[in-house]
Amino acid sequence: MGQSIAILGTGSHAPAKILSNQDLAKLVDTTDEWITSRTGIRERRIAGAHEPSSELAARAAAAAVADARLTPADIDLLVLATVTGDMPMPSTACLVQRKLGLPDGAMCFDVNAACAGFMYALEVARALLAAGRHRHALVVGAEKFSSFLDWEDRATCVLFGDGAGAVVLGRAAEPGRGILGCQLGADAADPALLCIPGGGSAHPASAHSLAHRQHFVKMKGREVFKFAVRAMAAAAREILEQHQLAADHIGCVISHQANRRIIETLSADLGIPMDRFVINLDRHGNTGAASIPLALDEARRAGRLRPGEVALLLAFGAGLTYGSALIRW
Ligand code: ACO
Repeated sequence: MGQSIAILGTGSHAPAKILSNQDLAKLVDTTDEWITSRTGIRERRIAGAHEPSSELAARAAAAAVADARLTPADIDLLVLATVTGDMPMPSTACLVQRKLGLPDGAMCFDVNAACAGFMYALEVARALLAAGRHRHALVVGAEKFSSFLDWEDRATCVLFGDGAGAVVLGRAAEPGRGILGCQLGADAADPALLCIPGGGSAHPASAHSLAHRQHFVKMKGREVFKFAVRAMAAAAREILEQHQLAADHIGCVISHQANRRIIETLSADLGIPMDRFVINLDRHGNTGAASIPLALDEARRAGRLRPGEVALLLAFGAGLTYGSALIRW
């Protein structure tokens, strides 16, 4: 692992506009009862026309830098996880560099591991810092899913929301504190399970891609649900075993916020009570790569991450990707 790397500050940003389940029931054939009972989601935030992912990211990142009592000039690495970037090129990270006024010469790039993106970005930044090449890293998860949702498909449009979360990483003040470990992986899967098929080099934008609604999220929910539970439970067991920690050593679990039933199944499977799981999907829905840093920031501000306690982070996403991390606070 090299030097111990810790989270020095956290921040998040949720757009002002709230879209409730009742609002959605006016757009598609659904009900608040269906969405709440199947997913636990009650409302989600929707970014405005002039709030692309880079804007959400920059706001969350600025809050994290201030929380760490640093200034943008102190940041020399920015790793940004997103699948809903402002444009295919340049990276959203470079747009955030400009918006935040990060120094020229900082290393800035995007990571795409869908909803596990923040975990991938965290490990890449941790490893670069531990190698001694950078001083302070910003790790951001930001998504504007509302731009990629088919607002005529009730099976997907009710699930996702917009938002961003960020952390600042730097050297841990004491050994044994900070990121204890990260386990990441991907299982090659049928892309039809979860994808946005259009707009890339396989299916470039065309009259055909538009007519077939290929620029929107497509998902086979049931298969993804089963994978999510299996992959996150296995990733949790593996990292706990590696660090010789029992489930009852975990003070707080921050898992990807896709569906409350996924989290309840995980809780039963791992033997970690539900009250240790942070849940904000009722207010935000699934915010993709933003979900974990957004929940982390809210949990920290609510006093749920106590000094010395170990938090377990768990994620899964399109790919299919997955990951776990242990952080001693
Ligand atoms: N309102 C009302 N009815 C609906 C809705 C809706 N919003 N959506 C689907 N239905 C209907 C379906 O049409 C189906 O009807 P039918 O039986 O007449 O065909 C019925 O409800 C059941 O549909 P299922 O898809 O089987 O419902 P399920 O209980 O599996 O719940 C859900 C669906 C919530 C999507 C669930 O499968 C799930 O959460 N899966 C995981 C998805 C996920 O986490 N995705 C994010 C991945 S992270 C990333 O990288 C983006």
